[in-house]
Amino acid sequence: MIQPDIQQKLFSILERKNAELSEYSLGFPPEETPYNLSRNFPGYEDYALELGSGWGEFVLHEAGKNPGIFYVAIEKKKKRVLRAIRRQKELGLANIRWLILDINWFFANLFCQEQFSRVIINFPDPWPKRRHHKHRFFSASFLGELTLITKKGGILEFATDFYPYLEEVFWYLEGNPAWHNKYGRGVILPHVEGRFVSYYEEQARRAGLATFFLFYQRV
Ligand SMILES: C[S@@+](CC[C@H](N)C(=O)[O-])C[C@H]1O[C@@H](n2cnc3c(N)ncnc32)[C@H](O)[C@@H]1O
Repeated sequence: MIQPDIQQKLFSILERKNAELSEYSLGFPPEETPYNLSRNFPGYEDYALELGSGWGEFVLHEAGKNPGIFYVAIEKKKKRVLRAIRRQKELGLANIRWLILDINWFFANLFCQEQFSRVIINFPDPWPKRRHHKHRFFSASFLGELTLITKKGGILEFATDFYPYLEEVFWYLEGNPAWHNKYGRGVILPHVEGRFVSYYEEQARRAGLATFFLFYQRV
């Protein structure tokens, strides 16, 4: 629970950062909470969310390929988002909005329930040292939030090159009856043919590291 005065400070930091994104910003703080994408951005077949989007190459690729889907990309680093927006402008894509947000500061109740048909988490910071695990944003309660905002039938995609984090997320998902493995009980894929390769996936491959992918469907 964040103290109200700290929350106010965090809000103003995020408000300032997001203001720089102009028309590409999802808007922070939201005009109304929770964000209601189907009301504020109507006319799309579906809504997708990428968390920790980095330089944005994955969401830019997906949005270009699927103009009928509206994407929200959340990333805490402003420089990365500004660079992604420059690319979005060059590509002329209308279907992405960005939110500069530290998911560890605010995430609960940010979006309306059953909003997203796809939630993408590619190569989140692994924080390998035990004393740093608290910085990881994926936890059982975070999965609870994702469960609320994902539509029934929607897919959660999680990719990493750090096996202990994979294992942790795997057991959260296995232990939550709202999710089932899209490819069969306990399936962890080492590679997904045809899936766009994000910057960090590319780095992992170059370094010869194994990669792991989970695809879970909301029941
Ligand atoms: C290892 S990079 C992966 C970037 C991209 N998804 C990829 O696969 O290339 C992790 C990204 O998540 C962002 N990130 C880490 N923790 C975050 C948090 N709590 N809230 C929002 N973004 C976060 C980092 O700033 C970074 O850009």
